[in-house]
Amino acid sequence: MQKILDEIAANALKATDLGKVADYIPELAKVDPKQFAISIATADGGLFSAGDCDTPFSIQSISKVFVLALALGKVGDALWKRVGREPSGLSFDSVLLLERENGVPRNPFINAGALVTTDTFLNCSTPREALGALLRFVRAASDRDDIHIDESVAHSELDTAHRNFALAHYLASHRNLTNTPEHVLGTYCHQCAIEMTTVQLALAGRILLDAEGLPSLLSHQRKRRINALMMTCGHYDGSGDFAFEVGLPGKSGVGGGILVIAPGRASIAVWSPGLNAYGNSKRGTEAMAELARKTGWSVFG
Ligand code: DON
Repeated sequence: MQKILDEIAANALKATDLGKVADYIPELAKVDPKQFAISIATADGGLFSAGDCDTPFSIQSISKVFVLALALGKVGDALWKRVGREPSGLSFDSVLLLERENGVPRNPFINAGALVTTDTFLNCSTPREALGALLRFVRAASDRDDIHIDESVAHSELDTAHRNFALAHYLASHRNLTNTPEHVLGTYCHQCAIEMTTVQLALAGRILLDAEGLPSLLSHQRKRRINALMMTCGHYDGSGDFAFEVGLPGKSGVGGGILVIAPGRASIAVWSPGLNAYGNSKRGTEAMAELARKTGWSVFG
């Protein structure tokens, strides 16, 4: 496994096209695009890494996986009355379908759907309490205490979150928010600004693996369903391409991270800040395709 990761990291460093770092959140535009890291936490307790695996990065939309798990923990299947389970075929921040589909977002990973899961998780608590509970959950999942929120990234996003505010107000106009748009957006931008290394993220992802001796924070059925949503919706309008090239459930973030699950085998975190046209990590996706080829871990064989 270590040899495979070393080869993948060496190939990533050879790439001439690094993709484009997200710049609509000014703080993320400052990140050095040359960085690359990959970590694998295997079901039998192994941990392997290559590259900048001790450098924390902004997990951004990968946080939507953890918040979905917590929202389902709060309300169970009642969540599916407020958010769908279908791919949108549109970019992560699209407003298009929300009007046509009466304020019910297509899935929990596009921004509109994630605002609903954040609202559900917030419930009647304050943003500070909810974020504290989220950090405790992620720290317990990874068994690492040194996971924090980068306040400068959170505020940088909040200052420029015009589209997300539009989505939140649109949801509110359809009575699909119970908290104020300000509280939901404040919580959402902070959850996205959680910083993790690939080691921490790969360890945290083990909650989505079914294997003995791993942290069992979620039921078997919940893991199976979250994995299904990651496979079909985790890369937005690039989800089909990711399934085609990699064949594993994954969730991307505009910080350049991807959390990928090889069911029953391993949790994998890859990070490279430059993004492809879909807004997903370019070299991260290429590295995952190489890993799937070399390990034969695609769920399609
Ligand atoms: O809502 C946003 O714009 C960001 N905080 C998160 C977007 C994101 O990570 C999309 N994923 N590739």
